[in-house]
Amino acid sequence: MDIKTFEHFAIETAKSAGEVLISYFGKLTHVDNKSTDIDLVTRADVESEKLITTAIKKAFPHHNIIAEETDFETINSDYCWIIDPLDGTTNFVHTLPIFAVSIGLQYKNQTILGVVYNPVYDQCFHATLNGGAFLNNSPLNISSTNTLSKSLLVTGFPYIHDERWQASFRLFEDFYSRNQGMRRLGAAALDFCFVAMGRFDGFYEFNLQPWDVCAGDLILREAGGKTSDWDGITPMPISGKRILASNGFLHTQMSDVLMQEKYRDVFLVSRG
Ligand code: IPD
Ligand code: CA
Ligand code: CA
Repeated sequence: MDIKTFEHFAIETAKSAGEVLISYFGKLTHVDNKSTDIDLVTRADVESEKLITTAIKKAFPHHNIIAEETDFETINSDYCWIIDPLDGTTNFVHTLPIFAVSIGLQYKNQTILGVVYNPVYDQCFHATLNGGAFLNNSPLNISSTNTLSKSLLVTGFPYIHDERWQASFRLFEDFYSRNQGMRRLGAAALDFCFVAMGRFDGFYEFNLQPWDVCAGDLILREAGGKTSDWDGITPMPISGKRILASNGFLHTQMSDVLMQEKYRDVFLVSRG
């Protein structure tokens, strides 16, 4: 099928899901917990996901779906939609308008389409493989910052408060002592897009999930940026395990900080 068909479908579906999110924004009466007391889920997450997955099942009944809030049975298909119905739930719950719908599409395990939509600002980021990256149809461009000392970086911290969570703060401090600033926005899909549009020069995180990274990864690469494992070489794992995303110019410098001996044991890829 034509990529344009998928692109049009994903953009329209993300915008419809965005309307669902807006209908709950600032009006939530109840919030549930998932893995921990700070891992939240709301009716907005669930309703947005229902809208997206129902639309996919109707339009492409033979495609696989991986979505954050629902386990779908695996179908024998080369296509797989990877969905975060609401990235930035904690922000959403606190009426902070930094959140998005994220829809990615893989063909034979390669991402061919990514859409990230923030309905509050009506900002729709999208990219197709080898087709460029756009914000509301204007091409996206990465920053030209090429030294860490002039950079503004973004990161995030995992929900599970273990030794890696503690080490994440040491790493945060380590970067902060070398650059112009660090930010933690709380919506990984938008972190990728903000690197893609040159607001940030780089982004790293540990223990994300496929739905956090799938669409944003392609949007950043199509904007001219680079993504990989923290080692700077291995392609970015769709598992979201160790994510390094940058304008490309800072990739090695960021990888050098992440791969220091003192962090290596804590953030081993082989650890669960
Ligand atoms: C979260 C956000 C956050 C990241 C977390 C994610 P959610 O997604 O992307 O930036 O640090 O690890 O789980 O739970 O709001 O969809
Ligand atoms: Ca997410
Ligand atoms: Ca989510």
